[in-house]
Amino acid sequence: MRIGIIGAMASEVDGLKAVMSDMRAEKISSVEFCCGLINGCETVVAEAGIGKVNAAVTAQTMILKYGVDCVINSGVAGGLDESLNIGDVVIASRTAEHDMDTTPCGDEAGYITGLNRVYMDCDEKLVRLLCECTREMGIHTEVGTIVSGDQFICRDDQREKLIGVFGGKAAEMEGAAIGHVCAMNGVKFAVIRAISDGANSDSTMTFPEFCKMASENSIEIMKRMLTKLADTEE
Ligand code: ADE
Repeated sequence: MRIGIIGAMASEVDGLKAVMSDMRAEKISSVEFCCGLINGCETVVAEAGIGKVNAAVTAQTMILKYGVDCVINSGVAGGLDESLNIGDVVIASRTAEHDMDTTPCGDEAGYITGLNRVYMDCDEKLVRLLCECTREMGIHTEVGTIVSGDQFICRDDQREKLIGVFGGKAAEMEGAAIGHVCAMNGVKFAVIRAISDGANSDSTMTFPEFCKMASENSIEIMKRMLTKLADTEE
């Protein structure tokens, strides 16, 4: 089994590349894809860049060029659920693109024409294994909807929409685009995010301050996850 791991920023993937053995790197469409072994698992790691288009290009390349069996999106997010503190984790049960809006044409907010639904479901086995990882690490974890859009969320009106319209527990800028691409290709996916800020007016201060710490949490979870995936293959 070959696992694709996508992060948006260097801090979200460098810790994985650092422990990769037999690494081969190749640049495609301005994105570097690093292939090798992590904790016994054949893995492809890529730093996609920020936002949905970068994430979509990277996911599609992983699927077509590297033939990954699943894609896991890992990194940081703004917390929407009231119970979340910085460093806590949200594992997506499903994703939605909060900035997809054809409501003037009569569609529901976030509706993806073609796939004909708002929410993309994550793979249940991947979700279960990710939950095991955070439980073992003693990290407070919420499972639920992760919403993505090409916006940094730091205002009350944005926050209220993401909670009220989509039931979002965390906001970021890539996961749902990866879910969309995976659904189009029939490939399993999951999203795991450590909370770097509260997606509120403090976020422009807290995000730079806590991004590194939250990224480190997500990297540790992914390392553990790859060990589990290698074990389940045996
Ligand atoms: N990633 C981390 N924090 C975020 C926020 N507040 N909005 C969007 N993406 C984020």
